[in-house]
Amino acid sequence: MIVLGIETSCDDTSCAVYDSTTVLSNIVSTQIVHNSFGGVVPELASRAHITMIDAVLSQALKEAGIVLSDIDGIGVTYGPGLAGSLLVGLSYAKGLALSLKVPFVGINHLEGHIWANKLSDPDVEPPFIILLASGGHTQLVFVGEWGTYNTLGATRDDAAGEAFDKVAKLLSLGYPGGPHIERLAKEGDTSYIKFPRAYLDPLKFDFSFSGIKTAVLNHVTNIGPEKAAEHTADIAACFQDAVTEVLVKKTCMAAKRMDVRQVCIGGGVAVNSALQQRMQSVLAKENIKTLVPPPALCTDNGAMIAAAAHFYLSRGTASSMRLAPNVSLNLPRSDQQ
Ligand code: KG4
Ligand code: ZN
Repeated sequence: MIVLGIETSCDDTSCAVYDSTTVLSNIVSTQIVHNSFGGVVPELASRAHITMIDAVLSQALKEAGIVLSDIDGIGVTYGPGLAGSLLVGLSYAKGLALSLKVPFVGINHLEGHIWANKLSDPDVEPPFIILLASGGHTQLVFVGEWGTYNTLGATRDDAAGEAFDKVAKLLSLGYPGGPHIERLAKEGDTSYIKFPRAYLDPLKFDFSFSGIKTAVLNHVTNIGPEKAAEHTADIAACFQDAVTEVLVKKTCMAAKRMDVRQVCIGGGVAVNSALQQRMQSVLAKENIKTLVPPPALCTDNGAMIAAAAHFYLSRGTASSMRLAPNVSLNLPRSDQQ
């Protein structure tokens, strides 16, 4: 079965071709139109998806060495995400499915990030815990079996990536902030200052990242612009240290609570090598394996949507033409089946 995956939930336009075992192509066009705004501008994002999607699809078909008529089914993200952006991909997928007379299935973006781990390591099987950390989400999910998920905890305010972006902005670094902070943090001293770690209820798996953002802002304001410029790398290192510590500790706690031997990660923040190394070293001590997908499978991409779609289409599950975008779609829960 040849599946086309389409992802347009935020600021990446992506199409990928998956042949049930191999990703034949995975083309991602990242919108740079938002960089000067320090965040994604929804209206600009949906327009850019419309402009790019034809070219991204053509490139995906070309690289996979197939033509449109070779496609057996289509998977498309229908939530969560930005309404206008989701609508572009979903409408495009419906049009293609109608004209090619093939089924299409709407995919939850977060479930896509979970499936990215299966593409990275075909041997991965539930049960496992996954930490999803991106610009829009931070949650810990228990995957008991493919297709049904238990969200153990989530952020109560900012997502981890959002905190990276906001702190980068107040340090006058570029957008997206994560890569800038990671690069600078390598030259910084993690003992410069201890920013607060929000563990909330230590027995629960919820996160909060708005407090640390305010702590960084207060510190920068207190020391003044000259000292802040002098210590930018130190501040970046201490901020990254605090965020990764909380993410790793809570993930480890979740893995132990659910008694799993495997942890996966996904989302743009999962690209962070300090987070990856910390996760691997803390979990290894507990005899728990960490799967780290390559960066192209951590960030938003069509291949993960195609992999999830393959799972549903091969079981005969397809969506109706009435499917609408759902900006706040939750993962399908195991206790709702
Ligand atoms: O998953 P993603 O590509 O898009 C969604 O938000 O769905 O994640 C983007 C987020 C941004 O907030 C960005 O700053 C963050 O991931 N990010 C990173 C790194 N690379 C991207 N955060 C920390 N370290 C990185 N190396
Ligand atoms: Zn994402």
